[in-house]
Amino acid sequence: MKLTYYGHSCFQVSIKGKKILFDPFITYNELAKDVSVDSIETDYIFLSHGHVDHIADCISIAQRTGCQVVANWEIHEWLNKKGISNTHPMNTGGKWNFDFGKVKCVVAQHSSGLPDGSYGGNPMGFIFTSEEGNFYYSGDTALTLDMQLIPSWAKLDFSVLPIGDNFTMDVSDAVRAADFLQCKKIVGVHYNTFGFIKIDMAAATTAFATAGKTLLLPAIAETIDL
Ligand code: NI
Ligand code: MN
Repeated sequence: MKLTYYGHSCFQVSIKGKKILFDPFITYNELAKDVSVDSIETDYIFLSHGHVDHIADCISIAQRTGCQVVANWEIHEWLNKKGISNTHPMNTGGKWNFDFGKVKCVVAQHSSGLPDGSYGGNPMGFIFTSEEGNFYYSGDTALTLDMQLIPSWAKLDFSVLPIGDNFTMDVSDAVRAADFLQCKKIVGVHYNTFGFIKIDMAAATTAFATAGKTLLLPAIAETIDL
């Protein structure tokens, strides 16, 4: 599987020729100013929750590409009201077979209000299983004991976890999450974008290495093989 990082918690994974974009937040991310939002092609957008730093570019990309947006019930309804009709509602605990593989929605411990103040339902993480491999994107979350359930649903090739602290797990909790997940390869997201979440990247990489794990921190617009 290939993963392209677009800054903050926005990344794209390709599985079986389908492009899957997560939590698009590019236009308002100063660090991603060299990424052209209008050049991103995608078949799907998955939204972990309703916060602006995860959905700011969703409507424009969905309108331009006609991609399907997958999100919780409340965000699905909100998008429908905004004119985005190609949506697939899901909710925590549920799974669905897509054309690229299966997605199961799991608990994230966070909040999910939408940018205009609408109720955004509950935040979610996603477990992707496919012929090309398996991965977990936690969305914004604290470390939770629920993560211990995830290896019973999927043997993970990699996980995408927030590491920026203040709003989510910090590096040391993300290392513990990787243990719960029985996953050795972690892509770190949700760091350095704003003042609240600045981290020491070298120290973060060392913390994972000391625990026998690999922390990958791709540059913005970089594509890595996983
Ligand atoms: Ni959030
Ligand atoms: Mn966030």
